[in-house]
Amino acid sequence: MILVTGGAGFIGSNFVLDWLEQTQEAVINLDALTYAGNLENLASLQHDPRHVFVRGDICDRALVDRLLAEHRPRAVVHFAAESHVDRSIHGPGAFMRTNIEGTYTLLEGVRAHWATLDSGDKAAFRFHHVSTDEVYGSLGATDPAFTESHPYEPNSPYSASKAASDHLVRAWHHTYGLPVVTTNCSNNYGPFHFPEKLIPLMIVNALAGKPLPIYGDGQNVRDWLYVRDHASAIRAVLAGGRLGETYNIGGWNEKTNLEIVHTLCDLLDELKPDPAGSYRRLITYVKDRPGHDRRYAIDARKVERELGWRPAETFETGVRKTVQWYLDHADWVAHVQSGSYRDWVEQNYAERQAG
Ligand SMILES: NC(=O)c1ccc[n+]([C@@H]2O[C@H](COP(=O)([O-])OP(=O)(O)OC[C@H]3O[C@@H](n4cnc5c(N)ncnc54)[C@H](O)[C@@H]3O)[C@@H](O)[C@H]2O)c1
Repeated sequence: MILVTGGAGFIGSNFVLDWLEQTQEAVINLDALTYAGNLENLASLQHDPRHVFVRGDICDRALVDRLLAEHRPRAVVHFAAESHVDRSIHGPGAFMRTNIEGTYTLLEGVRAHWATLDSGDKAAFRFHHVSTDEVYGSLGATDPAFTESHPYEPNSPYSASKAASDHLVRAWHHTYGLPVVTTNCSNNYGPFHFPEKLIPLMIVNALAGKPLPIYGDGQNVRDWLYVRDHASAIRAVLAGGRLGETYNIGGWNEKTNLEIVHTLCDLLDELKPDPAGSYRRLITYVKDRPGHDRRYAIDARKVERELGWRPAETFETGVRKTVQWYLDHADWVAHVQSGSYRDWVEQNYAERQAG
């Protein structure tokens, strides 16, 4: 089995669902269920014995040790993090704690566990660290895309904390020989994305007839990857990535924020037309985020060359699926907005105890 951290979040839950569809291997899912963790994302696994959910903090070393000793996973895939840049600007403390101290705690727990394995299991073991392209800083309009050897130049408390965690992972490989791989991925989008992030926020606001707030001039550029493609990239790197290496993962889809919002409005105009007129009428420009990085672009040739991975979705196919998913899951959105998704945990535990 494998141990996943942060598997109730956006990418983690998509990864767990994908993993259990694609493999027979069980998953221990360690997640603290912060505001960003939503067990409703995993409701379809409620009766699947291959998924074992443990509510807990990655900074809790005793818990980490206990889970590793009890379940003896052959790999750890580490998603758990505070992940929202705006929140990191308002309250960086939680980011330092989870992203840096949490990663350190896991590395130490895994190092102790790894030392107890026999040589075959030791060689096969993997610690997969899931990171972001934001550690590389910001690009000018005509700069080449980030390669794995691009200098680390993080600009936000979020990206600085992720950069620190990447360095810890690297050091635990070089110093202790821990068998690690790291992936640095561009912006993800898709089902179960918490509606504080650009794409779900715009869909949800548009459907509610609320303003679509665009930071600054809307010309900030990001590369976008459909979340299930990120899951398949992680499976590929976990299976075949070279130890101690980092792999950039991207969708070859550079878009300005304004282009993204226009695309979403046009899809909604087609799929759920509003008698009041095009959703584009709701676009409003708001004060920019401080230190807002201008452009990220990922050069994902290494993972393609070494492991043959390429995304299955184009932006057009992925974004259409995403908009349709939000239209089909108004209940999921309503539970997130009302906060009642958090009750799901209590309900779920009550049912489990009863069963
Ligand atoms: N969202 C993106 O576009 C993107 C892109 C590249 C990389 N990443 C990275 O992928 C990972 C997952 O991102 P996401 O968007 O799914 O984030 P998310 O915020 O949706 O989910 C994070 C999950 O981690 C859990 N968590 C937070 N603190 C914890 C702690 N101390 N102990 C245990 N669990 C804790 C939360 O409950 C939540 O379920 C992060 O490491 C992030 O840096 C995200």
